Order: sequence, then C-alpha cells, then structure tokens
Amino acid sequence: MNICVIGTGYVGLVTGVVFSDLGNDVVCVDKLSAKIDGLNKGVMPIYEPGLEEMVARNVADGRLQFSTDLEAAVTKAEVVFIAVGTPPREDGSTDLSYVEDAAKGVARALNSYKVIVNKSTVPVGTGDFVRQVIMTNRRRAVDFDVVSNPEFLREGSAITDTLVPDRIVIGAPNRVVAMRLLELYAPLERPMIITDVASAEMIKYASNAFLATKISFANAVANICEEAGADVTQVVKGMGLDSRIGAAFLSAGLGYGGSCFPKDTRSLLHTAQTFGYDFPLLKATIETNEEQPRRFIRKIHDALGGDDLKGLTVGVLGLAFKPNTDDMREAKSLDVITDLLACGATVKAYDPIAIENTRSVFPHITYGANAYEVAAGADALVVVTEWNEFKTLNFERLASIMNRRLILDGRNIYDPETVRRNGFEYHSIGRVTLAPVTLPSGAVKAAAPQKEAVPSV
Ligand code: UDX
Repeated sequence: MNICVIGTGYVGLVTGVVFSDLGNDVVCVDKLSAKIDGLNKGVMPIYEPGLEEMVARNVADGRLQFSTDLEAAVTKAEVVFIAVGTPPREDGSTDLSYVEDAAKGVARALNSYKVIVNKSTVPVGTGDFVRQVIMTNRRRAVDFDVVSNPEFLREGSAITDTLVPDRIVIGAPNRVVAMRLLELYAPLERPMIITDVASAEMIKYASNAFLATKISFANAVANICEEAGADVTQVVKGMGLDSRIGAAFLSAGLGYGGSCFPKDTRSLLHTAQTFGYDFPLLKATIETNEEQPRRFIRKIHDALGGDDLKGLTVGVLGLAFKPNTDDMREAKSLDVITDLLACGATVKAYDPIAIENTRSVFPHITYGANAYEVAAGADALVVVTEWNEFKTLNFERLASIMNRRLILDGRNIYDPETVRRNGFEYHSIGRVTLAPVTLPSGAVKAAAPQKEAVPSV
C-alpha cells in the first residue's frame, strides 16, 4: 500500500518505519526541513532503541522516504496518517492547530479517494473536525473518509509496542473503510477492535487516564503505607496478582511524567467539563500526581535538615521522565532540581542519555559521567529515574566517596535492608524509613537516624 505519514515525531516516525518494514511504500513528511535532512542522512531526531537500524534497512530497500513535500506524498498515497503534535493549551484543552494544518494540506492535495487516519492523540470529536476541514478546503469534489486509529506506543519500547500492540483500535464510519486499515494491520496478527470514530477517540483518552489513575492510586496507597508501617511494593504485588486488577502501572514513585499522561488526563478532564461533567476521579488523579514530587521534595528537606540547603551537595540520578528515553517533558527531575537550586544546594546530575536535553534547562549544574562521579562528595544521593544501571550500584564504593550516607529513592529501586546494612540512611516511597546500621567507618559521616521502625518483610 502507498502510505503517507504526516509528522515525524515519536508516533509518526515509528508508525511510518514499521509500516515500511511490513512491505508498504511509505513517505514520512514533516515541515521541519532540518529534521527531514537529518533523517535522510540517517540522523534520528529522537532516541528510540532499534529505530535507527529499522530506518536504515527500509531506506536502503527503497520502501521508506522522508520529505517536506506534503502535496506530492499525499497525491500518491492511498492512506494518509496524521501524526502531528497536539500540544496542551493553558486551560488543559488540546491545541489542534497542527492537525488542522495537516488536514488543510491533505485537502489541497486530494486527487483521488483516500482514507485519512487520525493517529495523533486527539479529543473526541476531532474526526468530525478533520472531515469538516477537508470538506471546506478541498479543491476537487473527491471523496474521502476519516478514521481514528489511536496509538498506544510507549517511549523506549515504541517499535515493539507498534509491532506487537495489545490491541489495534480502528474507529471508522463503516465496515468497508475499516477493512482498508484491517488489511494494513493484518500482518501483525494482533487483536483488533472495530468501532465508530468517537468511541475509538475515547478509547485512547480513557486508557491513558485509567493507567494514570492506577499510578496515582498506587502513590496514594504508598502515602498511607509510610504512616502505617506497610511496604507499598509488597502491597501492590499482592494487589496485582488479582487478575481483575493486574500488576502493571502500580509502581509507586514520583508520579507520572512524559508527553502523554499529564497532557491527556488534563485534556480528558477539559473535554468532560465542556460536556458538563466535572470528573472528580480524574481530578484526584491529577492532583495526586502533582502532590507526589512535592512530598518527595519535603522528604529531601527533612533528611537534609531544613529549607536552607546552602553548602550542601546533592547528587541526582536520572533526568529523563522515565528510563530508556532522553525525553525530559514533565520529568520529575525538573521539579526536584528546581527546588534544590532555589534552596541553595549544589546539584550534580547524571543520566545515561538525557544530559544533553537537560543542559539548556539547567546550564549551571554539574553533570557527571556516571553515578559515582555524581555521588563523590555528595551529602545526599537522590534517585529520580529508575535506569537499570542505578539498580546495581556498589554501596561500599558509594559509602567511601559520599560526604554523608544518605539516599533518597524516588523510584523504590533498592531493597531497604541492603541499603541499611551498608550504613546508609534510606528514604523511599511508601516504605518506612529504616535507621542505618552504624558501621565503624572513620571518615564517612553516617546520617542521623530518622525513625526507628520495623524492618519491612
Ligand atoms: C504512555 C502510554 O503508556 C502509551 O500507551 C501512550 O501511547 C503514551 O503514553 P509513555 O508516556 O511513553 O507512554 O510512558 P509510560 O511507560 O506509560 O510511563 C508514563 C509515566 O508513568 C512515566 O513517568 C513513568 O515513570 C510513570 N509510571 C509508569 C509510574 O510512575 N508507575 C508505573 O507503574 C508506571
């Protein structure tokens, strides 16, 4: 099939590359010529495992092209995917101006029947909006259909998520149109839901909002666990084994970030409110998520002895909003570092791949080449993103290079007992703080015990 994908962000690029890998002829279009030039030279605009290799393979085989010429790409396409950005507005609503621009471009190029697919995450009703924009702007009375086919890929596992999705959602005006997309996705052999356009649009937002709610629920439970002497990691394990609940997205931590959950929850809330429903459950999800980093920051202050952090050095491990990505959008490191700097602390930070993206935000902090460089001389080590390489740090080595044995773990990556045995004061999320075992170490200051507590089971 001849396919045009408009927008070479996460969704557009990965979708285009995967369709070409399935044997289709794909042209990925973007109005940013620098991005297209880069892609034509094999330079990826995003970090995504496996992407570069897949692009190179399909470009070499002649099935994948990158272009700024939207008109030419749409003209020869049978199916056009709109996968442009849908940024949030101040009031939480979704800015559809890029979708509108793309639809106008499609309208101008419309030369034969085409299926126009909304891949961008858009509020319910956008299918009708796109249809209207094309109707108004088309130059010829050529027929077309608009389909909703939301994307569920996660950054860091985008290729696998696209090749092996849990489900493929196709919202089409009728069965014949749905069959065109069904044909395209058939090689993946995954479960498909064929429904109307509005329901497909709602599936995307409702799914993201539900996952965000699971995370906020786990975080709320964690906050009680801390007071009640329970261990949230054990609690969610026990909950998750109930197949009606499921174990995924119950990891308590600093809350959800990234380009999707924060934006999509606010957008769904806005949509609900425009329909006269206040969606208190979703409001609570959002509020809990906003409170979570604030609670963690309070813990940092309590452990370091107050609001004035002048003269203290804090090592921050992890900058990206989650592991395996360099994406800093709504990353919790932004809240943590902003607060530390405002309170006068010296900040040293390390992330395996997101440092370059962080430099423009925090040009004056020190960036280490690894976790130990950041820990050296630090009065506290703060885990913000749970990269695998942080899970296996050598505590003895940390103890010997840190100024004070204090770890604040925003992602529960360590076993409290192990950290404690190494003489560290350890604060995590939803688990009781254990007093450190006092070791006979000369130079290193053991942290002042916080709260003597029952060790977790
Ligand atoms: C998400 C959805 O998963 C995906 O289906 C959608 O298409 C886009 O949005 P993504 O933003 O890439 O994907 O990341 P995801 O892995 O879902 O994590 C989102 C955030 O939730 C991260 O900040 C992560 O740290 C946090 N999270 C996730 C938790 O705090 N706890 C969890 O249990 C799971």
